[in-house]
Amino acid sequence: MTKRKGIILAGGTGSRLHPVTLGVSKQLLPIYDKPMIYYPISVLMLGGIRDIAIITTPEDATQFKRMLGDGTQWGLSFTWLEQPSPDGLAQAYLLAEDFLDGAPSAMVLGDNIFFGHGLPELLHAADAQGTGGTVFGYQVADPERYGVLDLAPDGSARGIIEKPQVAPSPYAVTGLYYLDGTASERARAVTPSARGELEITSLLEMYLEDGLLSVQRMGRGFAWLDTGTHESLLDAGNFVRTLEMRQGLQTGCPEEIAYAQGWIDQGMLLESAERFSKNGYGAYLRGLV
Ligand code: G1P
Repeated sequence: MTKRKGIILAGGTGSRLHPVTLGVSKQLLPIYDKPMIYYPISVLMLGGIRDIAIITTPEDATQFKRMLGDGTQWGLSFTWLEQPSPDGLAQAYLLAEDFLDGAPSAMVLGDNIFFGHGLPELLHAADAQGTGGTVFGYQVADPERYGVLDLAPDGSARGIIEKPQVAPSPYAVTGLYYLDGTASERARAVTPSARGELEITSLLEMYLEDGLLSVQRMGRGFAWLDTGTHESLLDAGNFVRTLEMRQGLQTGCPEEIAYAQGWIDQGMLLESAERFSKNGYGAYLRGLV
């Protein structure tokens, strides 16, 4: 078990998805056959991380806990934290300071969907890095909507610009951040941006200035999907549906990953299968034994 701890940021008002998200958190909405948050949880699990803080709004905390419990069903440990107002992604490191207790971390945004052959290897490479941080760059057609990498000719990062008017490269910085144990301390020095948020890019810039930020590219074989608009939410669901229908394999299935990692035994897997005995998810879990 890696000593790296996980953070899932699942706060926010989901205002771009109103009225759908007026009564329910965005990260609890379905991506085809599973709640959105299953996917980022699965990413951390594939990276070997079991000790995870989930940050929600105070209003949504009860629903999240009802759905996910304390994590033991998947061989995990969940710590529940609350973000009273959406004051920026870097704030997560302040909220999670006691939880992290100086440990290195992997933070994934609760609405980011990753898929790709070789993802565990990419995560393990980032985990192996002792000091500094790793971000993942992904080529997109509309980089202006994201944090964007300014790359030097040798491919190293020169800067990261949050939602630039003119993007310096097509590489967006995905919502997955591997940072060392100094993240919380550094986050304390981040000041609010023009839009009033503690930007993750400001925190990453600090690592960059110290020459401590690596960039890993997620190449063509990866999918990094956004779920921020009605269209992209539906697209992500269709993507998962297409894969699962074609292969008969689940993606983002925490029970399957936990079983493969040896974190739960056959008995626990069958217990989970029993909970879903009336549908295909239960049948799938039973089939893993
Ligand atoms: C946030 C980050 C941005 C990053 C994106 C990934 O943007 O600020 O740097 O590229 O997540 O999803 P937001 O979703 O808050 O607009």
